[in-house]
Amino acid sequence: MAALINPSILSADFANLERDLQAISTADSAHVDVMDNHFVPNLTLGLPVFERLAQVSPVPLDGHLMIDDPDRWAPAYAEAGAASVTFHAEAAQAPVRLARELRRLGARAGVALRPATPVEPFLDLLAEVDLILVMTVEPGFGGQSFIEGTLPKIRRARQAVSEAGLDVQIQVDGGVSRDTIERAADAGANVFVAGSAVFGADDVAGEIEVLREMANRHTH
Ligand code: DX5
Ligand code: ZN
Repeated sequence: MAALINPSILSADFANLERDLQAISTADSAHVDVMDNHFVPNLTLGLPVFERLAQVSPVPLDGHLMIDDPDRWAPAYAEAGAASVTFHAEAAQAPVRLARELRRLGARAGVALRPATPVEPFLDLLAEVDLILVMTVEPGFGGQSFIEGTLPKIRRARQAVSEAGLDVQIQVDGGVSRDTIERAADAGANVFVAGSAVFGADDVAGEIEVLREMANRHTH
């Protein structure tokens, strides 16, 4: 399975988002963090900005909705052209209905888990989603350090996906860098979100390539 690198534009220059999307044109997708200051204690951008980003981005958009009431708000991100829309398990009232709606609208459906949320309650519903996002930091901010204690959860999620014979991606988000990406890949992740590691690098495209090569050597 090829490793995918999705830089998080949370670490981009918010006054130059189109320019910074161009800077990651060799990435697999651009990860867009939507925060509402309710589900997480931070506020970023919402639908009008996301719609414009989808129009100008050279790469598909991977929307990560850290918001309350995704049942109400998430479908509009699919309609805006997101390649994938990931909502939080802790926030969704009816995750299966929402995932089906996102797929019907043409997006891949993702479910995200905070570090302390177990994956087991969702394993019976794996066929309903296209990706599981295992948060490797508490959602809300970039630049935090990777929580090693999430590795067993990544492993259990990958094992369940393999046993079910499904094509479900395992995404990791938070503290992913040269120091941590190999362990996440070894545990079974195949999609890697990196914000500060990519946008903090002198050579953004070069960093994407280094991370991709490191992950590919450890993705199985
Ligand atoms: C955190 C966001 C992440 C964030 C990751 O809540 O979901 O996508 O941008 O940033 P780094 O890679 O700096 O930990
Ligand atoms: Zn994110």
